Amino acid sequence: RAVQDANPGGRPVQVVAHRGASEDVPEHTLAAYRKAIEDGADALECDVRLTADGELVCVHDWRVNRTSNGRGAVSSLELADLAALDFGSWKGSPGEPEAPDRYDPGERSRVLTLTRLLELIHETDRRVELAIETKHPTRWAGQVEERLLEVLRRFGLDRPAPGEPSAVRVMSFSSRSLRRVQTAAPDLPTVYLMQYVLPRHRDGRLPAGVRIAGPAMRIVRANPGYVARLHRAGHRVHVWTVDRPEDVDLCVELGVDAIITNRPRQVLTQLGR
Ligand code: G3P
Ligand code: CA
Repeated sequence: RAVQDANPGGRPVQVVAHRGASEDVPEHTLAAYRKAIEDGADALECDVRLTADGELVCVHDWRVNRTSNGRGAVSSLELADLAALDFGSWKGSPGEPEAPDRYDPGERSRVLTLTRLLELIHETDRRVELAIETKHPTRWAGQVEERLLEVLRRFGLDRPAPGEPSAVRVMSFSSRSLRRVQTAAPDLPTVYLMQYVLPRHRDGRLPAGVRIAGPAMRIVRANPGYVARLHRAGHRVHVWTVDRPEDVDLCVELGVDAIITNRPRQVLTQLGR
């Protein structure tokens, strides 16, 4: 059913495609992001990891085993090794009757670099925001963030355009990773991801400098009042991963600011968009 499409502050609820339109198309591939943009997603979510030769690639797991035909840790492989793997064949296409033929086989199976994803957004003729999650930041002691900011700088995205909200935000479960980003790029919004609520965050206050809270849907379901507490503490609230219609309804009722979902088309339809 269609539900109200704005939070109590009157801001529209953003629909963010988690790993692209990843229910239908293999996650983190160019095809998954193309589909999310076609589906009308307001923003895209991606995870980034460093390869052995210092490239940022969009891969969720620390190893490539689940989502490719290869084996091993992303951090032990060079970009050329990853480029030789197939990141698409592991997944069927339940929601895409015409796929995989609909996509260039490379776009549906090749490893995606952050640079290529930013190029796709740049080529798009409407505003599409990007939420980038730093994975495994502690092992790399600052290199993930350093490289990330270098890439964003190249696209002029390390700070918002004057008078506009930032098109990019950096997310992490690690407050240390977010602090590094805040120090190097103070105008870039950061999202503190939460798997569970630590006692020191129960009142809604998050690590210094963090503007956006990223609670798991599980937290919101168990404690709906927490969204209002986060809002009162001055944070926006971006909830993940919201795939069930009843969870979408709850998020809208609570006035969350963004819904991060594997099925952006279905969520947009539910929102009447
Ligand atoms: O958007 C946040 C969410 O992606 C965090 O969990 O494991 O899917 O990266 P995960
Ligand atoms: Ca993620």
